[in-house]
Amino acid sequence: MPTIGNVQLDAPFFQAGLAGYSDAAMRLVARRHGCPYCVTEAMLDQFLIAGGKGLAAAQLNNADHPIAGQLMGSHPTEIAMGAKILVQLGYDVIDINLACPVKKIKKKARGGHLMQVPDEAIAILDAVRQAVGDDRPCTVKLRRGSDDSVEAERHFHRIFEAVIELGYAGAIVHGRTVEQKYLGPSRWAFLRDLVQRYKPEGGDAPLLIGGSGDIWSAADIFRMIDETGVDLVSVARGCIGNPWIFEQARALQRGDAEGGRRSPTLAQQRGVLREHFELSLSLHGEKKAGMMMRKFGIKFSRHHPDGEAVRQAFITVKSLADWEAVLARHYAGDGPGVDVALARPDEAEHASCNEPLGAT
Ligand SMILES: Cc1cc2nc3c(=O)[nH]c(=O)nc-3n(C[C@H](O)[C@H](O)[C@H](O)COP(=O)(O)O)c2cc1C
Repeated sequence: MPTIGNVQLDAPFFQAGLAGYSDAAMRLVARRHGCPYCVTEAMLDQFLIAGGKGLAAAQLNNADHPIAGQLMGSHPTEIAMGAKILVQLGYDVIDINLACPVKKIKKKARGGHLMQVPDEAIAILDAVRQAVGDDRPCTVKLRRGSDDSVEAERHFHRIFEAVIELGYAGAIVHGRTVEQKYLGPSRWAFLRDLVQRYKPEGGDAPLLIGGSGDIWSAADIFRMIDETGVDLVSVARGCIGNPWIFEQARALQRGDAEGGRRSPTLAQQRGVLREHFELSLSLHGEKKAGMMMRKFGIKFSRHHPDGEAVRQAFITVKSLADWEAVLARHYAGDGPGVDVALARPDEAEHASCNEPLGAT
């Protein structure tokens, strides 16, 4: 089973950072369904350093471990300070984002933009490793390149080799380019070649290699492992409004093929919808929880046999009372849910990633 430094996982998958979604509420729901490890959404170093809302949002719940705090920044000194703050807050792993394709972020030389400037990326990775030392394992999230050029691939490997030399415990590679954002397929062949190049069979593993991109069902997790040889699989859009993917993946891990396909019943969906709203409410207060949960409701509605009507109902939710009214109207009874793996989300829905935590 995968180990990230001193963090031992009992399953080869985790919940990815998802800006605008993967707050403590989503993470706790995922963990209750068998998710062994979570990464926060990208946090701006400057917002942690400034204190206030950004720092408050980074506080951890005792049940929310093991967890990686993901950082994004453009200056080695500042990002190193941010990393120290995350260590003090009790994060188990410090993760650096070199993957976010959002324009605003790119203009500020952060996230995926750094894939084009390997010297700057390496200076950031180095500063973080020095600041964290052996206190916590460090990992990095990368794209397979800034674009499809030969130069971009060369930059990728320069950065990746530095990641190994600097003693990073792991790297999670998203098989799309920064230019691609979230559109088009994730190139799993790139992940396979990466594993073959850096983890030759029988050789010592210099670091854990994780894969990201196009995980829509529990079966996809194990297909990625089989086809590429990665140690760990990142579940991202496939788990928004679908924490059952982790339960199904646990079933597949035990060899229970039927459990690996089992969709949640309406009563199970109702339980999770209520639980998720309550967690969000305690975290954000009613107004923000209402706004956040509307987005989740739309995703959860895919499991409902009358999905379109339920989606329309969730779109208007503003309060706990509105949420409860949707549950009373559409989830009162019990019955089978829909297999969402058959209904892949529309890629265009996620053509852009939200602002990182504290950035707005
Ligand atoms: C709305 C949204 C927000 C995201 N935010 C983050 C983030 O904060 N940190 C991160 O490492 N990746 C982030 N990602 C990227 C995902 O973790 C993942 O790498 C990507 O969606 C590819 O996986 P998928 O095709 O299985 O969804 C985000 C993706 C989306 C769609």
